[in-house]
Amino acid sequence: MIGEILPPWVASAEKFGDVPEETLFPEERPLIARAIDRRRREFVTGRHCARLALARIGVAPAPIPRGERGAPVWPGGTVGSITHCSGYRAAAVASTDDARAIGIDAEPHEPLPEEVLSMIASPEEIAGLRALGDADGEVCWDRILFSAKESIYKVWFPLTGRWLDFSEAAVVIEPSGTFRARLLVSDPAMGTRALSGRWLASDGHIATSIALPRP
Ligand SMILES: CC(C)(COP(=O)(O)OP(=O)(O)OC[C@H]1O[C@@H](n2cnc3c(N)ncnc32)[C@H](O)[C@@H]1OP(=O)(O)O)[C@@H](O)C(=O)NCCC(=O)NCCS
Repeated sequence: MIGEILPPWVASAEKFGDVPEETLFPEERPLIARAIDRRRREFVTGRHCARLALARIGVAPAPIPRGERGAPVWPGGTVGSITHCSGYRAAAVASTDDARAIGIDAEPHEPLPEEVLSMIASPEEIAGLRALGDADGEVCWDRILFSAKESIYKVWFPLTGRWLDFSEAAVVIEPSGTFRARLLVSDPAMGTRALSGRWLASDGHIATSIALPRP
């Protein structure tokens, strides 16, 4: 699923089930030492997907520590992103020769709870979702908006080291499988306020992606 919405210079791997905890590196085990079972499984399989994806760009298996505010610390010369939700885990990586940052996010293909929507979307975005819903009622457009904003944060944070609020990006979703975002705050490390990404709904899940190429 995730590979369908990434450019060819990004490698990815995904799993619809989980792999054994023994696949973790010893250095990674303390990161989930006190975690509940669900969290352990998603972390382990997310790391496994990351190493599968890294192998596809010629990077030998290595630990992927947790950095500032939970962002993965990728092996030198690479950037990437991890996502997991019920029944799905994925990772995407690229060489820093090709990419500045990557953000991916997966979600169950279900409507967002009403109270969440009002916290993550502006009135303009909500009006856009209504129009999309009128044209195609089969797609949970609100969930795609939420996921797009998670992908934006996963690109934004590793570059800037700063928090980005849901109100600080204005997203327009295109029914064709793309979205555009305008950042309402600037940071020199981002270099741009305009982002574009892709989305896909498939088999009970939705996914979004942003791959920022190196100019
Ligand atoms: C961090 C966040 C984006 C993760 O998204 P999520 O849908 O909750 O969970 P996902 O399973 O898709 O992603 C989790 C993975 O994201 C990665 N991640 C966590 N924090 C991160 C950060 N600061 N930067 C980049 N990646 C991060 C990790 O790899 C994590 O998995 P791991 O802990 O097993 O390594 C989300 O929890 C969050 O804090 N959002 C608030 C900020 C935001 O989205 N702002 C909107 C801006 S428009």
